[in-house]
Amino acid sequence: MSVTDPERLREIVEEICDAMTAETERGRVADYIPQLADVDPDQFALALVLPDGAVIAGGDADTRFSIQSVSKVFALAVALGRVGDALWNRVGREPSGDPFNSIVQLEHERGIPRNPFINAGAIAVTDAILARSEPREALGQILQFVRFLAGDDDIAIDPAVAKSETASGWRNAALANFMRDFGTIQRHPDKVLGTYFHQCAIAMTARQLAHAGRFLAFDGSLSPGGSRAIAPRMARQINALMLTCGHYDGSGEFAFRVGLPGKSGVGGGILAVAPGRAAIACWSPGLNAVGNSHLASIALEMLADRTGWSVF
Ligand code: DON
Repeated sequence: MSVTDPERLREIVEEICDAMTAETERGRVADYIPQLADVDPDQFALALVLPDGAVIAGGDADTRFSIQSVSKVFALAVALGRVGDALWNRVGREPSGDPFNSIVQLEHERGIPRNPFINAGAIAVTDAILARSEPREALGQILQFVRFLAGDDDIAIDPAVAKSETASGWRNAALANFMRDFGTIQRHPDKVLGTYFHQCAIAMTARQLAHAGRFLAFDGSLSPGGSRAIAPRMARQINALMLTCGHYDGSGEFAFRVGLPGKSGVGGGILAVAPGRAAIACWSPGLNAVGNSHLASIALEMLADRTGWSVF
């Protein structure tokens, strides 16, 4: 049984928002990017966009947050649009089973990251976009694509977050330099990292993020039968990668508990996809032990349970 009645969905969203607001165990806000350490952990948002474009939102759905690794989904779509399947010569499609910022597999696997969602893979994807553009132009393309998907021009990069990560992103610098030596990335690591940090610093609200996720819920289009953003085949492939790799070493657990393709970010956001039913954005800044939002993971488990939206 799958819930489609908007009134029932509204009740479910309200129930989840109430439960999550009352929760006292909220996880730990990311502090390895200093600018994110100051975000108030007492925030929670849930937003759904349905096939007819109706939005059901609750909590702090109009508060902007740093989407961080959720941006990797949009960058992947841009890179695939530009270089097509050639992208897979430098990035794999397997879960890593390791933390998002791990370097260990790179040495044994010819400098090829396991998938486009761990940091090494996302840096390689950004380098692919830079093959034909300078950083400013590449960022403009990613941002324009996100604005188009969201149907909203009021989305921007937070320069303070980008600067904060540029000043502290030593681990990512190690990954980029290591991959540059293997030839996985071709541009200068500083250029690739600067672009990657700015892409991660895109700030948007849960309402905007849910809109931006419609293309994955509706077969590559912004609504069923509506404007095409990417090919249906590509949307299916991105969803498959989100399901298997979107939560790093927590991907199996998320698939087991929620059963939806999802992509998390250390800003506490999760973009989840209920194919044909809804694009979903959930946000709460406190993270669990593997760097995914603690409350957003619980909330999405409740949502999948109450709606019957699991893909399984
Ligand atoms: O590269 C980083 O470490 C961050 N800009 C993004 C990492 C991230 O969001 C991991 N997600 N849960």
